[in-house]
Amino acid sequence: MMPTWVRHHSLSSSTQLSRRNFIQTLGALGAGFGAAVLTAPRVFAQQNCSSQTYFPPDYPVNCAPPTPSGPPVPFTPLDGPALPRKSAFELSDPEIARLTTAYQALRDLTTKDPSDPRGWLQQGHVHCWYCGGGSDGAAGPEIHQGWWFLPWHRAYLYFYERILGQLIGDPTFRLPYWDWDTQNATPSHQTMPPVYTLPPGSSNPMVDLLRGRTPTQQIGRHIVGPAVIQRVLGQTTFATFGGEPPQPNYGGGQLEAGPHNGVHNWSGTDGNKMPTCGTDMGVLGTAAQDPIFFAHHSNIDRFWGLWKAQGGGRTNPTDSSWLNQSWTFYDEQKRWVSIMVKDVLDTTALGYTYAPVQPSMVAVTPPSPQGARQVATEAQAPARLKIASQPSGIKLGTKPKTHVLSKLPELLKQNLAQLSAEPQKRYILRIHNITVPPTQAVQVLVFVNQPKANASTSLDTPNFVGTIGAVPHHRSAQAHHQTTFGAAIELPPSTLELIRKEQRLTVTLVPVDANGREPKNLSLTYTDVSLEMT
Ligand code: C2O
Repeated sequence: MMPTWVRHHSLSSSTQLSRRNFIQTLGALGAGFGAAVLTAPRVFAQQNCSSQTYFPPDYPVNCAPPTPSGPPVPFTPLDGPALPRKSAFELSDPEIARLTTAYQALRDLTTKDPSDPRGWLQQGHVHCWYCGGGSDGAAGPEIHQGWWFLPWHRAYLYFYERILGQLIGDPTFRLPYWDWDTQNATPSHQTMPPVYTLPPGSSNPMVDLLRGRTPTQQIGRHIVGPAVIQRVLGQTTFATFGGEPPQPNYGGGQLEAGPHNGVHNWSGTDGNKMPTCGTDMGVLGTAAQDPIFFAHHSNIDRFWGLWKAQGGGRTNPTDSSWLNQSWTFYDEQKRWVSIMVKDVLDTTALGYTYAPVQPSMVAVTPPSPQGARQVATEAQAPARLKIASQPSGIKLGTKPKTHVLSKLPELLKQNLAQLSAEPQKRYILRIHNITVPPTQAVQVLVFVNQPKANASTSLDTPNFVGTIGAVPHHRSAQAHHQTTFGAAIELPPSTLELIRKEQRLTVTLVPVDANGREPKNLSLTYTDVSLEMT
């Protein structure tokens, strides 16, 4: 059944004026939200989600930042100690009260002055601007599906956190993180943290009513289970973990493709009832209107540190084009500030650390050490082995698809025979020119040497290697950012051992929906599958 959406908080005047593309009914329900209610709560009637002109109720028209009064000032960190961001499941009562008060103030600011760049809706629009833009056709540079992903979101959260702290006069305020990777906890950390869901539908500024999930539903293992987490942390290059530099076929790393995209799609839709509809978290243009976005991204940011701390050659890029990239944000004083990637590499300099979750709850097995892998010092062209190629595009629908290399090429055989002697060699599976409609949520599980793999195949084997994923950028065909990207997955030693033993290589792509089942629809193409040896 299609739920009827009641929107309690939100809607700037510019957003309201845009509501041409869907049927809506103005509700005459009682005010549900005290001071945070900007307009009378609305009831959105049933909508045709498959329409190309469909927009979710809060899809912004214009999400450009307010025009700054002058050039940006360079970033300077605040003085003060580095304080822990804590698990959203482990906040004390005073910490919950502080968080809730801060969000209430953020929402109140939007009510009081919709043009204040620090308010809840303007802050949500910062994300919209960088990931597809408003429905007016204007957008900033893309910061997803590539190596900008981690530093940009770190900077964004940093200013957002400072703003929340400023609004409650508490510079020690830190965002919590949603540790969906913590296994076997009670209550489950695979549900949305209770502070973001309870009490449901009432005056909690942490709640976003445009969500596709109930407070007790749990994210599946295909998104955040131990096998997925292990594959993410098992990547030894920044490119395959955190995203590739702009180059032909570049894309996001396994952290973005897997848990990041998966949690967005899962939170934003109920998967079965409205698979193409999506709600705030399920569309990049509206995702940051949901407070839970920031708990999700705190955890993504935490993973950057967890990944680096494993060592084994895991390092950040050193290219100056990455380090010197800058973006501008409004800070807590409404100053227009320019911050560079190199400014955000050390979280303690930004005033925060990550408090570990209670030890008893951490049950994810750390990935096995893969030996110290050196970054190649000489520029060496990687050997590339073609597994499948069709320039006009290979179609992937709702069913799994397998590409077979029945006879291993000599070069691969030789390389695999020397596996233990050359632990520094990397084998990267690449899927090129993945193209999806901008409105399409995607999760494709990738298996090696398991040609019969399907949505119910276990991920806890060396056959499962990683994820291809996408979050809808936009809710219509008018999207401005193109949705063609590449996927690069570093194969773990156990998988390479399997290929060596079986003397064959097959790659199976298994599409799944947000619940881990065969999706109802998917339209995706790619041009090539290859194995790169570096
Ligand atoms: Cu900018 Cu989670 O997306």
